[in-house]
Amino acid sequence: YGSNCFAVRGAIVYLTGDPFLETAETCLQYIEDGLLIIDAGKILSCGTAQKLLRSLPAAVPVQTYPHGIILPGFIDTHIHYVQTDMIGSYGEQLLDWLNTYTFPEELKFSDPFHCKNVAKRFMDQLLKSGTTTAMVFCAVYPESVNALFEEAQKINMRLIAGKVLMDRNAPEGLLDTVQSGYADSKRLIERWHGTGRLSYAITPRFAPTSSPEQLEAAGQLWKEHPTTYIQSHISENKKEVAWAASLFPERKNYLDIYHHYGLTGKQALYAHGVHLLEEEFQCCYDTGTSLAHCPTSNMFLGSGLFDVSAAKNKKRPVEVGLGTDVGAGTSFSMLVTLNEAYKTGQLRNVPLDAVKLLYLATLGGARALSLEDKIGTLEAGKEADFIVLNTHATSLMKERMERVTSIQEALFLLTVLGTEETVEATYVAGKLVYKKQF
Ligand code: GUN
Ligand code: ZN
Repeated sequence: YGSNCFAVRGAIVYLTGDPFLETAETCLQYIEDGLLIIDAGKILSCGTAQKLLRSLPAAVPVQTYPHGIILPGFIDTHIHYVQTDMIGSYGEQLLDWLNTYTFPEELKFSDPFHCKNVAKRFMDQLLKSGTTTAMVFCAVYPESVNALFEEAQKINMRLIAGKVLMDRNAPEGLLDTVQSGYADSKRLIERWHGTGRLSYAITPRFAPTSSPEQLEAAGQLWKEHPTTYIQSHISENKKEVAWAASLFPERKNYLDIYHHYGLTGKQALYAHGVHLLEEEFQCCYDTGTSLAHCPTSNMFLGSGLFDVSAAKNKKRPVEVGLGTDVGAGTSFSMLVTLNEAYKTGQLRNVPLDAVKLLYLATLGGARALSLEDKIGTLEAGKEADFIVLNTHATSLMKERMERVTSIQEALFLLTVLGTEETVEATYVAGKLVYKKQF
């Protein structure tokens, strides 16, 4: 036990398996009165309070959360920090929304002071929502990446981000070139990738805004830096799918564009996938490519209903994480996003139970990012990124919670009634970084 060792006490919940492939019971770990002991930024042990308190030295402080459910920190696998200030922009679907609201907003990030201001507020929103890891789109400007990584570094947060690559079909001021996009990304990788808990993601915005040469350069860069990530968008909107096909007529489907340029594989993650075909899911599975389910965004832009059960087909299960996709997404809260994931499931006639939902927001995200050896559960040895949800956060939730009879029911209610207000505390690398004032 080191001098900074401490413990938290409350109900403990996490998953150790994929409930889309195994029964909920085999995946769900639940300790009604649990103790989590943290030392040097890692989880030292996790078990029943009764057992662990017996051998815990008296000098180790114990923080008790009376109505708390201790969970792994949420993992938001798709979000745009540069769209924080344009969340909730009215009335358009994807392509018009990009031209009308998004591109003008992202132009502001040529100013490093603006980057820093937004990065700070973005980080605050993540932490108060219980999100401890995110995979983030920045703007085309390298300064926008520096500003975000600097903020994340201050609290030793595990964060993946990258500079957007786009060299066509956007306003002049937002475009890079094949050469500058490659060189700027490479410089950012050298500066940031692997420093502390930060990782770089090579970030072609989506096929329509990159020339074939730029996609090729992105693939080349990934080969030169194989521990970095790839992030992009795919098959979100029907007009977008048709446009991508018209720009790359020789490719057999949308994913085949990325696949052709070497942009599929483990540590490649594509957001949306609403209109993917069976052969594209198969390619995700064959290559280890992951998807981000972004339900609030898909509803908000009228993009469609992502079919999680098709993605997770047991014959060729694809790793799927959850993404808020702010600013097309309408909330930073992963609980709110799970609520929409549930409703998307209902409209697809595949109800998602609480264990599946929780998986998407935690271990599923960790696996989609190949980080399951570090985060996503509360097992001993994992990095101490965890949150405390308060089942009495609001009067409605308190009154309803008093009537539940199982942990599954309580967890489901947290996803239906929960918001950022439900988050009582957020810990990153074993440090308290957000505490709700009740
Ligand atoms: N496709 C290409 N760019 C974007 C973006 O910024 N947001 C969303 N939702 N889809 C995109
Ligand atoms: Zn997006």
